[in-house]
Amino acid sequence: MSHVAVFPGSFDPMTNAHLDVARRAAQLFDRLIVGVLHNPKKRPVFSIEQRVALIRESVADFDTNVEVQDFDGLTVEFAQRNGASFIVRGLRAVSDFEAELQMAHTNRKLAASVDTVFLMSALEYGYLSSTLAKEVAQFGGDVSGMVPGPVAAALRLGAAGG
Ligand code: PNS
Repeated sequence: MSHVAVFPGSFDPMTNAHLDVARRAAQLFDRLIVGVLHNPKKRPVFSIEQRVALIRESVADFDTNVEVQDFDGLTVEFAQRNGASFIVRGLRAVSDFEAELQMAHTNRKLAASVDTVFLMSALEYGYLSSTLAKEVAQFGGDVSGMVPGPVAAALRLGAAGG
């Protein structure tokens, strides 16, 4: 039986913490689909096309079992459309836990056949967030250790362009 997982998120933009989770999840599952949400609740800095393209570039050296798609609506439906029985999420610190627990239970209620698997973020990336990386870049700080190379370049362009 082949094990398929989705790794959903806003990825505005992908950080090294996300990249590390994606890399490890790709080793655990036969197929991993990174799902980039069109999230009407958030006003993203990067368009959906940019976010998808930046993730594709960032995972280009991974095994070929990783793909990137954008999606709308419920994560469980995105998972089911792709034949995935697992949702992967990263946990950076205990502060992530409560919201993730709620999401995992909600998703389980919606689709009992889709389970959530948590991976602890690598220790060195435990402090990272997309929001902080954007803020550092906005003020001209060095984000090279925080985000994948293609994202750092895009943030630098954004910062330079105002
Ligand atoms: O990167 P984020 O913003 O923490 O990701 C949150 C995400 C996209 C996983 C979550 O908001 C989500 O699954 N949204 C899709 C709508 C949905 O399925 N809601 C019900 C489960 S919480």
